[in-house]
Amino acid sequence: MPDALELLTSRRSVKPVELIGPAPSPADIDTILTVASRVPDHGKLVPWRFLVFEGDGRLKAGEAIAAVFKADHPDARPEHVDFERNRLARAPLVVGVVSRAGPHVKIPEWEQVLSAGAAAMNIVLTAHALGFAANWMTEWYAYDRRVLDALGLAPHERIAGFIHIGRAAQPPTDRPRPLLDQVVTRFSA
Ligand SMILES: Cc1cc2nc3c(=O)[nH]c(=O)nc-3n(C[C@H](O)[C@H](O)[C@H](O)COP(=O)(O)O)c2cc1C
Repeated sequence: MPDALELLTSRRSVKPVELIGPAPSPADIDTILTVASRVPDHGKLVPWRFLVFEGDGRLKAGEAIAAVFKADHPDARPEHVDFERNRLARAPLVVGVVSRAGPHVKIPEWEQVLSAGAAAMNIVLTAHALGFAANWMTEWYAYDRRVLDALGLAPHERIAGFIHIGRAAQPPTDRPRPLLDQVVTRFSA
């Protein structure tokens, strides 16, 4: 599987502002979300769901972000409020990965959260496989309950990531990666 390995070893994130159109097509989005749904999931609980922001929906969501920002920073300059309004409109497509993890008699909540992380990573990798680039981000608004309420998340739901997707304006350069001997030990008897 040299192509798959090439894909896995060449992936790297691109800043949201450097993600340009054209956006993934509806068929591309279906592929991305189908692969996102194919992740290990202990107990088959489906402890995640996906919230797609595209077109004008990105700015509508941005209104909620800007409103909360303005409430907390009443003296903010208009350009700063505009920046907040544009948060989810920097890339052509943003997929919110919503964790629905919760207490369960058998399946630890931690494992449910990890499954959402796997779904997020599958989105990043599938975008890359389709020729797009991506950036898995949270930023402050992912942790603000007022924003999450406005985006329609239930009280027990959390954001695992807002995955920004588009075409890389220019090929990204890589960043240093951890050396294997820094992160790998072999258990010896
Ligand atoms: C859960 C999670 C949240 C993240 N949130 C942010 C963020 O809010 N802002 C940011 O600059 N990078 C964030 N990152 C890091 C980027 O996704 C990315 O990993 C980083 O830019 C390094 O690039 P690489 O993917 O090419 O290694 C986050 C990563 C993870 C796993």
